[in-house]
Amino acid sequence: MRIKLSEPTYGEDEIAEVMESLRSTRVTMGAKCLAFEQAFAAYSGARHAIFVNSGSSANLLAWFAIANVLFQPPPGKRAWRPGAEVIVPAVTWSTTLWPIVQAGGVPVLVDCCPKTLQMRPEAVEAAIGPDTVALCPVHALGNACYMPALTELCDRHGLIMMEDTCEALGTRHGGTLAGRFGLMGTYSFFFSHHITTIEGGMVVTDDDALADLLRCLRAHGWTRDLADKARWGTGSGGLAERFTFVNTGFNLRPSEINGAFGLHQLRKLEGFNAERRRATLALIEGLAPLIAAGDISVMEVTPGADPAFFGFPLLCRDPAARDALAAHLDAAGIEIRPIICGNMARQPAMAHVRHRIAGSLDGADRIMACGLYFGMHPGYGEDDIAFVVDAVRRYFQS
Ligand SMILES: Cc1ncc(COP(=O)(O)O)c(C=O)c1O
Repeated sequence: MRIKLSEPTYGEDEIAEVMESLRSTRVTMGAKCLAFEQAFAAYSGARHAIFVNSGSSANLLAWFAIANVLFQPPPGKRAWRPGAEVIVPAVTWSTTLWPIVQAGGVPVLVDCCPKTLQMRPEAVEAAIGPDTVALCPVHALGNACYMPALTELCDRHGLIMMEDTCEALGTRHGGTLAGRFGLMGTYSFFFSHHITTIEGGMVVTDDDALADLLRCLRAHGWTRDLADKARWGTGSGGLAERFTFVNTGFNLRPSEINGAFGLHQLRKLEGFNAERRRATLALIEGLAPLIAAGDISVMEVTPGADPAFFGFPLLCRDPAARDALAAHLDAAGIEIRPIICGNMARQPAMAHVRHRIAGSLDGADRIMACGLYFGMHPGYGEDDIAFVVDAVRRYFQS
């Protein structure tokens, strides 16, 4: 493939830092992970950042924290119970949904707008029922959800907001960083994402007790790493503090290798996102005649949003045109993929998963049937852009 979905964004800085960790033999979660968490908290403006081994793990941790017996819902918010409903967009990644299901909840799928690719606030409002406890906005493809409307709905109905920001590190809406509107926000640092720790993810929150609960669940349910150990009832019965378990838990810890990457990558984030923006605008400019002719449409920026572009999604007029364009691009050496997972309601796994579909999913179906995306990364050069634009234009001229 001449144009891949992603290219490596790490270099000598990350390699040297990893080598230092390996040579020091301090390779399990330690000082570098902690320093990365502190840097990420400072960047995001959150009181706490909890580093884990993937974005999926960040979502797992967030939903299991909300479902945990020791979780205290913020004042005025609905409490979790088995069968609690969480509203999610139909167009999202699988592990937006699975952790909700694994925590005993029921995902409620709502439609997405084919122009912005984001969940529709009016569909969210119509989906809220007596069992709805939370809303999970997903900022798809680096664009932002309609945050004022979603925030107002959460406030009015007492819903907990947990933002899946795994595709939108650096995106803002109305000046606020995506992932910072609700109780928690999650991020992914997978290889192709805005920054990478190879695999990795983060949960951010301002809630001190929740941050300790997240740290406890991240590592075995023990008390190590907790700021307020006494709160959770430590040390009874002569147990060594390091081997006292106060909750159920997982092992979702990252390693120092991941922390080493994160420290350097975070410093490069703004530069990477500026490059993604440059390449996106150049592609839009190159494809403008096709957009004007209605042959393709590209993602519209949500009003008020400042995106951190992730992938270059486009929609064709109809499914046949999409299939033909996809085959043409593949043959030209341009790697393409569906828009996230398409409409999650159409995935075979949903046959075994308790869920609810709220209203029509026509927009999500259209995104699935007519959409595709090719890669977007900071290394996209002028030659790459010209190559992609030429390939797409040649298809429509033929
Ligand atoms: C919206 C969304 N949520 C969650 C994830 C999971 O992140 P990870 O691949 O780091 O597990 C992804 C992955 O790309 C994603 O796009």
